[in-house]
Amino acid sequence: MQLNPVSKLSGTVNVPGDKSISHRSIMFGSLAKGTTQVTGFLNGADCLSTAHIFQQMGVTINFMNDTTFTLDGLGLHGLVPPTTILDVGNSGTTMRLLSGILAGQNFSSTLTGDASIQTRPMNRVIDPLQAMGANIRSKNENGLAPLVIEPSQLTGITYHSKVASAQVKSCVLLATLYANSASTIIEPCLSRNHSELMLKSLGADIYSENAQVTIQPNPILEATTIDIPGDISSAAYFLVAGLIIPNSDILLTNVGINPTRDGIIRVLKDMNGSIEYINERTINEEKRADIRIRSSRLTATTICGDIIPTLIDEIPAIAVAACFAEGTTIIKDAAELKVKESNRIDTMVTELKKMQASIEATDDGMIIEGTHRLSGASLKSYHDHRIAMSLSIAALAAYGPSTLHGSQCIDISYPKFFDDIQQLCE
Ligand code: S3P
Repeated sequence: MQLNPVSKLSGTVNVPGDKSISHRSIMFGSLAKGTTQVTGFLNGADCLSTAHIFQQMGVTINFMNDTTFTLDGLGLHGLVPPTTILDVGNSGTTMRLLSGILAGQNFSSTLTGDASIQTRPMNRVIDPLQAMGANIRSKNENGLAPLVIEPSQLTGITYHSKVASAQVKSCVLLATLYANSASTIIEPCLSRNHSELMLKSLGADIYSENAQVTIQPNPILEATTIDIPGDISSAAYFLVAGLIIPNSDILLTNVGINPTRDGIIRVLKDMNGSIEYINERTINEEKRADIRIRSSRLTATTICGDIIPTLIDEIPAIAVAACFAEGTTIIKDAAELKVKESNRIDTMVTELKKMQASIEATDDGMIIEGTHRLSGASLKSYHDHRIAMSLSIAALAAYGPSTLHGSQCIDISYPKFFDDIQQLCE
């Protein structure tokens, strides 16, 4: 894909549905009784992997169009044994949340995925599930997928998670639905809370305070209507592009601004970015707003501590913003970036260096000296959707043309990304 610099971005984008909430709408809807109606679904490859797996376990999903469907839930105990190995594709959320659900079933299953997913750590879910009595193992005994799960009786646990991970938290919450006692999960700091909000709205007995959540087993989950907001992780590319490309003025409509996800807004505002919420509202317990972004002279910042889980997926885009900010931006406490779809510290540092950025990797983040200028280059996505889109906006703001190899991976979370960029250039 050839990417040329642009002189400004202006217009409106309706960013696609939130990926985390889209996965959960299929999974939790399948475990509820009755018909769940979903609007705003993300029809990216990851969420379609989740949909396909639940169809393989007997769930009927009727798509009216790409983003709207009804789903006939089977209740907690209604899933049908799959006849093949379940393939999560590139999706860590599918693999980790599903392992919690499958640990509670009275049938055996095997979960696998693509080359990237087979390098990502699974002990973070294997360990707590085994502590609950689950019969789950890494097939090759290396802590990686494929995962093999056999039936067993689960017991609730108190789990002190080493990482602030919504995937780990949600896995234990889901397994506890099938346990004979309650579980409490305590995180080092609060990760995204979409599972807690949606399970509660379906009728689960779940209580959270700060970074601790307790859930009771064996609820009756009742189907509901779910309207999914736009994904702030997809909005991130336009937030940054709108700030760093001169003369830009962009409106993003219906973006989810759940406080466990809005770290990028807080950071970019702190960097002097002109970002304004319009028409704030809450639907299905999830806050959302339209967001107006205007070009700004950014200043550097330090990003660390409890804010990290609220912007973990947006750090590649924030790194691009930092290249255009006055001063030195420091990102730390973000070692989790190393175990995402690629090692996002290494991949961003390597590729932005090709664009003449002044950027260095550290053990748990990066240090970026803002130079206000990047040069076009020949870039690689590492088959990581967030790297592809972050580099794309860097290329739009750079001097000279760039080439991005492996741009197709944007299909994972934002199939129309380049169309939406194009529309802002017209
Ligand atoms: C997600 C949680 C985060 C995030 C991922 C989606 C989720 O991962 O990076 O893109 O939907 O629960 P971790 O739980 O590993 O931090």
